[in-house]
Amino acid sequence: MRILFIGDIVGRTGREAVAASLPKLRETLRIDLAVVNAENASHGFGLAPDMAAALFAAGADVITLGNHAWDRKEIIPYIAETPRLLRPLNFPPGTPGGGSVVVEVGGGRRALVIQAMGRLYMDPLDCPFRATADLLGRHRLGGTVAAIFVDFHAEASSEKMAFAHFLDGQVSAVVGTHTHCPSADAQVLPGGTAFQSDAGMSGDYDSVIGMVKDGATLRFWRKMPGERLAPAEGVATLCGVFVETDDSTGLAKRISPLRMGGRLAPTMPEA
Ligand SMILES: [Fe+2]
Ligand SMILES: [Fe+2]
Repeated sequence: MRILFIGDIVGRTGREAVAASLPKLRETLRIDLAVVNAENASHGFGLAPDMAAALFAAGADVITLGNHAWDRKEIIPYIAETPRLLRPLNFPPGTPGGGSVVVEVGGGRRALVIQAMGRLYMDPLDCPFRATADLLGRHRLGGTVAAIFVDFHAEASSEKMAFAHFLDGQVSAVVGTHTHCPSADAQVLPGGTAFQSDAGMSGDYDSVIGMVKDGATLRFWRKMPGERLAPAEGVATLCGVFVETDDSTGLAKRISPLRMGGRLAPTMPEA
């Protein structure tokens, strides 16, 4: 199975880059499953229903969120009726929406997509390790589902690596989100799970993690709240990860980062 994951879409420039490129990427990379993180799509904070609909229309099969899940309140009724829009699995019981979904991809195959959220330097939450292990008890890689993709939304690389090793051999891929910087550690772990600790954001990198640099910088050195942060709106770099899995085992054959446009050095997986 050929999987494309796109990291945190930040603001209009990120949304436009994804809308413009995703249909073509799906075609050239022959993507079976496209997952995008859109927790920052609405001016840096949350996701509005019309933006979610536009991402689905552009070719996203599943959309994930994160700590900014509820910044746009309109998403709450929308997520309740949109199973392909995920919020972290380990939110408290009773939270609207779901943290996982099984989708049909081509060729009669099914894929499980999961989002969990880390706890180190993040808000306290239920244990993502335990929540994911419980869920995986109900699915079998290479059996009930041909592939399992996990977006692990977390701050610390240590927690992300630990989480990936914890799941090594049980899922096809663990890709991190939330730091907004693409990491250079893409690898297939010894048990066959593809891993990259952060996919990077899809937004303007002449910024502080996607937000206008002047205001964001002032907050650090003046230690006073400044004006409300707004997304930088220069040309976005679309950042993501491509994973190819073996349909019989569900394990990863390869993982390659993908970067296009904007300021970062481009890289494209071999088709
Ligand atoms: Fe983010
Ligand atoms: Fe986040």
